[in-house]
Amino acid sequence: MSDNATIEVGGKSYELPVFTGTENEQAIDISKFRGASDGVITIDPGYKNTGSCLSEITFLDGEKGILRYRGYSIEDLAENADFLEVAYLLIFGELPDTETLDKFYTDIKKESIVDDDIKKILDAFPKSAHPMGVLSSLTSALTAFSPSSVNVDSDEEMYKSIVRILGKFPVLVAWTMRKKQGLPLDYGDNKLGYVENVLKMMFNKPNEEYENNPIVVEALDKLLILHADHEQNCSTSTVRIVGSSHAGLFASLSAGISALWGPLHGGANQAVLEMLNGIQEDGGDTNKYMAKAKDKNDPFRLMGFGHRVYKNFDPRAKIIKKAADEVLGDLGIEDPILDIAEGLEKEALADPYFVDRKLYPNVDFYSGIIYRAMGIPTEMFTVMFALGRLPGWIAQWREMRLNKEPIGRPRQIYTGENLRSFVPLDKR
Ligand code: ACO
Repeated sequence: MSDNATIEVGGKSYELPVFTGTENEQAIDISKFRGASDGVITIDPGYKNTGSCLSEITFLDGEKGILRYRGYSIEDLAENADFLEVAYLLIFGELPDTETLDKFYTDIKKESIVDDDIKKILDAFPKSAHPMGVLSSLTSALTAFSPSSVNVDSDEEMYKSIVRILGKFPVLVAWTMRKKQGLPLDYGDNKLGYVENVLKMMFNKPNEEYENNPIVVEALDKLLILHADHEQNCSTSTVRIVGSSHAGLFASLSAGISALWGPLHGGANQAVLEMLNGIQEDGGDTNKYMAKAKDKNDPFRLMGFGHRVYKNFDPRAKIIKKAADEVLGDLGIEDPILDIAEGLEKEALADPYFVDRKLYPNVDFYSGIIYRAMGIPTEMFTVMFALGRLPGWIAQWREMRLNKEPIGRPRQIYTGENLRSFVPLDKR
């Protein structure tokens, strides 16, 4: 604690401590204000200006376009680390050495079998079910197959739960897609790396040898790293708040998946592809849609451009654009949807409307394009986001439990009716 802040309410003055973080972000600590002031609270719908926790995991500065996990820049990590190293870093706080990383992956692989009864649950879903709903349900169902809740004071139990979910989750992701496509629910190959195995589990056909394309593997690895954490967003806050009731890890993750499902959160990459499809069906005229996006009387916006937090550029988009170019170049895919995306990107980057408002393509613009090029169905895009975000959710859940944070329980200001007398049914 350093400075103090003074608040005056009803003629009375209160001194509140000011907390300064390691990157000099400041916060007024109001945790004891209600008690001191006899019931005055602060209100902030959507928590736009409310810090819910102190966290050592991710630092984000939207104005400067900075994203760091545990102090390492996202650029450095995307260039030099792989997804599992980043997962370990996020969850346990330090980069693993070779031995620790090998053990981590070996332990994850040992946990990569999913109880066969989960297939019966999956079978009960209609093929039309959205994969995010299915993934959330299956993740929750895992709780029933490992019912004992984690003793968070035991490092060993915590570690076991973490490797268990990191092992089983990719299987659920793959099965969610395979079920929709009518493909058999089988496993990948534990001789492969984590990301290679995910791809094999998703795309393997029973009558063909599956071969990984290293450019696709690298692009997916990067995408997962870029999505691995983004501090206290909607799904992460959900995981923390559900976990704060001491609900188990898998139940908390299942709630996070539901939060991510929404179009205002993880659903944006799906919205990009839906927009591109719409433009194609309307004749593919990108100029027309550029004009619509700039027209103040038209509600249309270019999906995948602009960002609520990043007001300069999205550092993740810069990294992933390169991977998108490599994947499209290597796969040599002829796809009018991808041509439309490239056309829009080129036009927007040169258009003063977008340049002046700093509306750059965001990570979802490129991730949607890469997933499409990889042959991943549009409805699965948010599932891929969840796969990437899993280590971040786990890290945040673990931090919250280890810090012994209290149960999340916001206050409210009541604006309804004052006390009134009950009116019997026949008198209303
Ligand atoms: N297309 C056209 N114009 C845009 C767009 C866009 N995508 N985004 C912003 N603008 C314009 C606004 O009309 C506004 O213009 P004005 O100053 O002339 O009134 C100006 O840019 C500023 O826009 P705001 O709405 O104030 O920016 P805000 O920070 O509120 O919105 C948001 C950010 C929601 C991401 C917005 O840019 C948008 O709707 N983008 C498209 C949806 C999208 O891609 N969402 C995913 C974000 S990434 C993620 O969530 C992981």
